Amino acid sequence: MDKEQAQSGEYFVVKAKDNGVHVIGLTRGQDTRFHHTEKLDKGEVMIAQFTDHTSAVKVRGKAIIWTKYGVVDTEE
Ligand code: TRP
Repeated sequence: MDKEQAQSGEYFVVKAKDNGVHVIGLTRGQDTRFHHTEKLDKGEVMIAQFTDHTSAVKVRGKAIIWTKYGVVDTEE
């Protein structure tokens, strides 16, 4: 990621409400595939960015997600 992208990429926050929550990064571009899976245990927080490599994120499990569009609870 270059400096410009580092400054412009939106951040999101995921807080796990349970053990074994997965935060999965999907690739940007023609090919949409998983490139990274991060496993969070209860109470763990991940702060991450959308980057030149990551255009979408899938969250599996019980978690709270904060983005600039608001807060989402995966259980509601
Ligand atoms: N190397 C990845 C990237 O720069 C790291 C990453 C950023 C990531 N945001 C993510 C991994 C979201 C998983 C989910 O794009």
